[in-house]
Amino acid sequence: MIIAIDGPAASGKGTLAKRIARHFGFHHLDTGLLYRAVARDVRAVDGTLDSPEDAGKAAENLDPETFDDPTLRHPGIGNAASVVAQVPIVRTILRKFQEDFAAREPGAVLDGRDIGTVVCPHADVKIFVIADTGVRAERRFLELHERGEAVTREEIFDQIERRDKRDSERADSPMKPAADALLLDTTKLGIDETFDAAVELIKRKIGQLGA
Ligand code: DC
Repeated sequence: MIIAIDGPAASGKGTLAKRIARHFGFHHLDTGLLYRAVARDVRAVDGTLDSPEDAGKAAENLDPETFDDPTLRHPGIGNAASVVAQVPIVRTILRKFQEDFAAREPGAVLDGRDIGTVVCPHADVKIFVIADTGVRAERRFLELHERGEAVTREEIFDQIERRDKRDSERADSPMKPAADALLLDTTKLGIDETFDAAVELIKRKIGQLGA
């Protein structure tokens, strides 16, 4: 069983995916972490983020043991990840890791930008999470503010807009809902309501599959 959860920056897809995985007893992979780790490793050697040589080498040598590195959650890394994510060789290398993860039993939940379209086009359930940019920016601002990061609402809003534009306009595997994805608009939903709505969608879909 594969559940693909895609959506733009700060849409709440990561929190949702983690909870869905726990609820169904499945494995969870936050695929954004892979791109974040590549960006971190390119920076560590003073490399160029959009260079196929530098970013490709970092992707090739990626160590999954470092995915719990807390620096990967820093806001600046999100933007850098969005830049390395434009490089086709990086996407090709990272796809293999994601495909292997998706095959894990009894099931896997992967969240990202291109899971339903490219990484797991045959996923059993595909959810594309959306929310107004202002609402996403406010949620991310509050989260960072709570962690003591010195950021402004305007900065966060601009970063999210820029990142969405880059992620949805890149040539290779742009962020977009798969034709058979179920759209989940969380603009007016809290975390629990989002989770309940997603479980409903998944149960309905699994029912249709006859599982
Ligand atoms: O989900 P996130 O914010 O951690 O992702 C960071 C960046 O990584 C995102 O802006 C684009 C890239 N990414 C991607 O291109 N494809 C994915 N499946 C996941 C993330």
